[in-house]
Amino acid sequence: KGCKLVGCGSEVPSLSVSNDDLAKIVDTSDEWISVRTGIRNRRVISGKENLRNLAVEAAKKALKMANVEPDDLDLILLCTSTPEDIFGDAPKVQRELGCTKSQLAHDITAACSGFVLGLFSASCYIKGGGFRNVLVIGADVMSRFVDWTNRGTCILFGDAAGAVVLQACDAEEDGLLSFDLHSDGEGARHLGAPINDNENGSVLEFPPNRSSYACVQMNGKEVFRFAVRCVPQSIESALEKAGLTASNIDWLLLHQANQRIIDAVATRLEFPPEKVISNLANYGNTSAASIPLALDEAVRSGKVKPGHTIAAAGFGAGLTWGSAVIRW
Ligand code: ACO
Repeated sequence: KGCKLVGCGSEVPSLSVSNDDLAKIVDTSDEWISVRTGIRNRRVISGKENLRNLAVEAAKKALKMANVEPDDLDLILLCTSTPEDIFGDAPKVQRELGCTKSQLAHDITAACSGFVLGLFSASCYIKGGGFRNVLVIGADVMSRFVDWTNRGTCILFGDAAGAVVLQACDAEEDGLLSFDLHSDGEGARHLGAPINDNENGSVLEFPPNRSSYACVQMNGKEVFRFAVRCVPQSIESALEKAGLTASNIDWLLLHQANQRIIDAVATRLEFPPEKVISNLANYGNTSAASIPLALDEAVRSGKVKPGHTIAAAGFGAGLTWGSAVIRW
């Protein structure tokens, strides 16, 4: 059995925030941000925009490209770490898409690796579970969880959603060729947005106070080192499982966190710059949305063509990281 990618779509908020806009609220500059990260702009939710409506719009575009009706879906996987509801948003996305059957919809939480895990889960549901049409959405609104007075983090992130539709097919048509997936809780201290409970070290009393989450806390240098060390190894391992080498692959598509990370990984794997997909300059780090957002742009602009192979990798909080070798 196989499963193939039959559609993609994406959605970003309307408000565009440039590096110069950020320089008005924190002590930074366009030059510092673009030289260190490659980011020039990001989109941030405003007005009535939220995670769910970004996810729904991205999903509608992917379903349209796939020529799949909402009721033809057997499963919706919403990969996000910033849901509107801690119990998850996937069933609400299912309702807002107009699905009338009680097909399964659930969230997957794995920060910036979420979308790669979503692809893997979809492949298991299809290849082992008899599911036929699966929608995988990567969506995050990090703007709700960053400290807009902290120049070390607020410059990095943007909000977005991206989606793909996967369909059961014969093994020869398989579009999800291999995976390599990891996590390391030891590294969690370098990146997180933990619950604020028990801040002063006191023992929780009954009844406990209502909880809230801290803003994103990050040791940028450690995260940088982790990405440059682990991502090339993971991609090499996924390529080996697929029986391929970097030279057989048409595109390298990494989680869009920092252009210097993308360049370093591409160099390590000997991918020439013309084979590297990057749209980070326009959107910043959109967490679980970054891979499907960049994929959607690359497909719609005609860069990625049917039959092309892509080495994709997500990495981020957890720490989590993982790679997928995909055929479009
Ligand atoms: N503008 C101007 N100066 C700044 C800014 C800013 N926005 N941010 C930090 N600085 C200053 C610091 O205060 C420091 O000043 P000092 O030398 O006087 O102390 C100096 O710039 C250097 O700061 P560093 O943090 O050491 O800068 P670094 O070169 O490590 O770059 C960066 C920081 C861009 C965050 C980098 O470490 C990085 O990209 N790391 C990866 C982070 C990442 O990708 N995180 C997200 C991935 S995981 C996920 O997606 C959830």
